[in-house]
Amino acid sequence: MKPVRVVTIWWVLLLVSRLGATRRGSPEEASFYYGTFPLGFSWGVGSSAFQTEGAWDQDGKGPSIWDVFTHRGKGKVLGDETADVACNGYYKVQDDIALLRELHVSHYRFSLSWPRLLPTGVRADQVNEKGIKFYSEFIDALLRSNITPVVTLHHWDLPQPLQVKYGGWQNVSTADYFSDYANLCFEVFGDRVKHWVTFSDPRTMVEKGYETGYHAPGLKLRGTGLYRAAHHIIKAHAQAWHSYNSTWRGKQQGLVGISLNCDWGEPVDISNPKDVEAAERYLQFCLGWFANPIYAGDYPQVMKDRIGRKSAEQGLDTSRLPAFSLQEKRYVKGTSDFLGLGHFTTRYITERNYPSRQGPSYQNDRDLVELVDPNWPDLGSQWLYSVPWGFRRLLNFAQTQYGDPPIYVTENGASQKSHCTQLCDEWRIHYLKGYTNEMLKAIKDGVNIKGYTAWSLLDKFEWEKGYSDRYGFYYVEFNNRNKPRYPKASAQYYTKIITANGFPNPREVESWRLKALETCSINNQVLAAEPLLSHMQMVTEILVPTVCTLCVLIAAVLLMLLLRGQS
Ligand SMILES: *[C@@H]1O[C@H](CO)[C@@H](O)[C@H](O)[C@H]1NC(C)=O
Ligand SMILES: *[C@@H]1O[C@H](CO)[C@@H](O)[C@H](O)[C@H]1NC(C)=O
Repeated sequence: MKPVRVVTIWWVLLLVSRLGATRRGSPEEASFYYGTFPLGFSWGVGSSAFQTEGAWDQDGKGPSIWDVFTHRGKGKVLGDETADVACNGYYKVQDDIALLRELHVSHYRFSLSWPRLLPTGVRADQVNEKGIKFYSEFIDALLRSNITPVVTLHHWDLPQPLQVKYGGWQNVSTADYFSDYANLCFEVFGDRVKHWVTFSDPRTMVEKGYETGYHAPGLKLRGTGLYRAAHHIIKAHAQAWHSYNSTWRGKQQGLVGISLNCDWGEPVDISNPKDVEAAERYLQFCLGWFANPIYAGDYPQVMKDRIGRKSAEQGLDTSRLPAFSLQEKRYVKGTSDFLGLGHFTTRYITERNYPSRQGPSYQNDRDLVELVDPNWPDLGSQWLYSVPWGFRRLLNFAQTQYGDPPIYVTENGASQKSHCTQLCDEWRIHYLKGYTNEMLKAIKDGVNIKGYTAWSLLDKFEWEKGYSDRYGFYYVEFNNRNKPRYPKASAQYYTKIITANGFPNPREVESWRLKALETCSINNQVLAAEPLLSHMQMVTEILVPTVCTLCVLIAAVLLMLLLRGQS
């Protein structure tokens, strides 16, 4: 009997674990698989516009809901940080492309800022040519470096006017505006971009944006707002896909998909059918919510049943989960050329029934509790435990549930808490090695995985966590005006995996780790010297001109005295 640690928020109870000793240490974990990935497997790294670009009001960019949310202060974001400058990525394109080349990635996943391209969000109002020029040049620069752009259209930074005028994703009109925006992007970038992701992790976007209020736009429309927002997002995705299919695909020959994030849910007790059902429910409320309409034409049955029943018990005439009409089902079904999967960690799941009278909420609708095993390595972030075997199970689940789609892993990575400047991130190396190895096993299982995107290129603005969570292969010195980047040990290790396209043999793989740790301790010294260096910079910037001016003055005075003495 072991206690299970409380995870993040209130719904996770401190339970005495029912995890028997038999469940500890999964068999997959024990056997590391040496081997290589299929030829042409695409290795990449990812980021998003709002988290990195900065330049929030430059060159004609309009405000996003996240600009407004962060500027409001009041503890919305840890330390009331903003992303006004972030990594200053808008001005550091060449530097960042150099880092991508150094990593040897074959693709880079990034997002376009909708309000940078359409300042009011509405194409008919105004198109910002400077925004188009910026991304166009960025895409060209990537292609010159042989890096395939994988472009996300919407990664949470909705143009503020759409929120103010229409209620954002509460309003189905936003789907039309999104579709217009998507068409603009296909039109101006589609000759060079062949991989499109419509939405990034829409589940978190609607849950934190419209249910808990932790994210922009900060609404708490419990048990209703998130379902409505998701409904419109699914329609918006389908609309964009259909536009691409009918208007652009013929010429451009690209792919359009969606990126859905989900952790794995493992039953606490696999011999207890209630736990097994609860774990299945966890996955359906997480991944199935979006993937089922797109692959099968409707919400998962278990979501329709639960939310419908609870809505009735709460005295509502209709379910809080919106319904697709027959026509809509046909329209939405089959609108993804690939499945983008984001994945970070795993939870144990057990059933718990929440009475309907507790009121509507997403958590209550699911009737389950999430737990973690205290033996899982905790990487410093409160929610993110390293559980590689869960990744393989999720990949297998996605394959069987959605008819063996091509899968791109669009996000996977580990953060480091605290402002510590340690570049020797051995734990991130462990995470990366473990997770990519489980992905390799999933490929051997027969899952059709086309590529992997490690999250993330840089340390960056981490939403409500400000700059306190660091996901980057490159450490960013946020206190320095120039936002310099320094490679962590994991950057070099990832490059080795990419170059070898897998894990050749124990000796070589072990040598990568040792080499990476050796290099990072040298880099650590450079970073430690950073305050000194910037101090020296200051000295040359201020002291040198001052001294020079003084010298000239003294010389002038001496000359004057000399001349006076002579006369
Ligand atoms: C939704 O947007 C339309 C304009 O497209 C507007 O007329 C309507 O009032 C909006 N609805 C809500 C609930 O904001
Ligand atoms: C996608 O476009 C192709 C070619 O125009 C067409 O045959 C097909 O029916 C379209 N798919 C859907 C689902 O509309």
